[in-house]
Amino acid sequence: MPYFGARVTEPGDYEGFPDGFFDRADSTADPDFYSWPRLVTHIDDGAIAVVGALYDELHLEGDVLDLMSSWISHFRQPPRRLTVLGMNEAELAENPAATERVVQDLNADPTLPFGADAFDGAVCCVSVDYLVRPIEVFREVARVLRPAGPFVCTFSNRCFPTKAIRGWLSTDDAQHCAIVAEYFRRAGGYDEPVVEQRTALTDRGDPLYAVWARRVP
Ligand SMILES: C[S@@+](CC[C@H](N)C(=O)[O-])C[C@H]1O[C@@H](n2cnc3c(N)ncnc32)[C@H](O)[C@@H]1O
Repeated sequence: MPYFGARVTEPGDYEGFPDGFFDRADSTADPDFYSWPRLVTHIDDGAIAVVGALYDELHLEGDVLDLMSSWISHFRQPPRRLTVLGMNEAELAENPAATERVVQDLNADPTLPFGADAFDGAVCCVSVDYLVRPIEVFREVARVLRPAGPFVCTFSNRCFPTKAIRGWLSTDDAQHCAIVAEYFRRAGGYDEPVVEQRTALTDRGDPLYAVWARRVP
């Protein structure tokens, strides 16, 4: 049972989530699935532009952490220091905005290899549905954020279904927003999360949802 027992876990973290919520169809270790680089985009150009605009609006600049990252981080203007953490070294090596790269399986070890108050902001784009220990990860992000720093989670309606948690696959977009907001509340260390659909309801492209909250002092 490799996924439990880290020191960042607290009793009751997952109380109330249905049995099997964090299981996945493919329960093999994540490094196998992510061993080859996917130099593709996972949302369309319109949704990518919406992500970049949100990062601008929230002033994601300075020292920023891109969690579950790949070769593209979607910033219109890259932050001064961008640390990217993901599963595939070759994808991260291709990320032109990155200044520091970390390969880490957050499902095996949710403890972030950074000191407290290390970042002005953090982002996680179209990936939160792959976390089997999200509350520990969100708690760790709060630890490494500076006061008032935002953690911005964005997602659409696509995924690698075998690697997404069953709780995500069995719920709709509105429920995904509620699930991510719940992760923030249970992790602690954040103010009340903001939930928004950032693409217009009339858009024909990929929808883009954002849930974010700021580190409380
Ligand atoms: C759909 S891609 C999204 C990549 C990028 N954030 C983007 O916006 O294009 C999912 C990403 O999540 C990362 N990922 C998946 N499982 C992970 C895990 N257990 N630990 C860390 N990163 C993970 C992978 O490296 C992959 O790049």
